[in-house]
Amino acid sequence: MYENLSPQDAAKYAAGKQAVRMYAKEGAHLGLGSGTTSGWFVRALGEEVARGLRVTGVPTSTSTRDLALSLGIPLMDVNDLEAPLDVTVDGPDEVDRDGDMIKGGGACLLWERLVAEASGKMVCIADESKLVEHLGNFPLPIEVVMFGWEATRRSVVALLSDLGYRDVKTIDVVRRVRDGVPVVTDSGNYILDVRLGRITDKGLLDTNLNWIAGVVENGLFTGIASELIVAAPDGKVRVIEPRARNSPRIPSWRSKAIGATDGM
Ligand code: 5RP
Repeated sequence: MYENLSPQDAAKYAAGKQAVRMYAKEGAHLGLGSGTTSGWFVRALGEEVARGLRVTGVPTSTSTRDLALSLGIPLMDVNDLEAPLDVTVDGPDEVDRDGDMIKGGGACLLWERLVAEASGKMVCIADESKLVEHLGNFPLPIEVVMFGWEATRRSVVALLSDLGYRDVKTIDVVRRVRDGVPVVTDSGNYILDVRLGRITDKGLLDTNLNWIAGVVENGLFTGIASELIVAAPDGKVRVIEPRARNSPRIPSWRSKAIGATDGM
């Protein structure tokens, strides 16, 4: 349907299309990821909706919401879920063989993680350039509140130093800026980016970052993806089961959280 795609877009479309084949069943409730790869998934889903498939989507960003609405995909608010979403499909900035990911290159990590945790299953779709041996070459995004962000930034540097990521003076944690202005997320927060080179203890870093006052969420998604769909530019798709899912943040409580009401 789409012609003259770049090799990378062809791979992203193939991965998105495969996720639609596997998970877009009649009546399904789907979390819709953000970024260009997820955009191809949403477009492939839109093709099926145009053919009469009935599904409901929960978007992970305002941009995905706008894309889905333009394609006629019915949406609902994550607050209104009465049961876990069947599956959330989303793309990474990097993913390793454990299924652990760096996410947030598009500044949507908070909503992405929240919707993924409100799902029975999270599936990672990627072109093969995203599959890496070790996470950390891509700068790790950290979403922080605006108030006191510089103090939060210093705490992040101190933590990284404590965890052994080089000397504190050489750890480069920068507030993300685009077109000369700080990036503000859909929740009204800033993004800090830190290039770590190689992340050594993923679970420890994931949990410790979130202990810092001012950190809302970090882009190291450990133990969340239960399947990887990885595609090549020629359209060949591999479905890979993560090698291990060891994370202190595996949200085994997540299905129980759905349906809880205020005051419970
Ligand atoms: C947005 C994200 C994206 O999913 C991630 O950046 C991948 O984007 P793309 O598919 O465009 O490479 O985490 O916050």
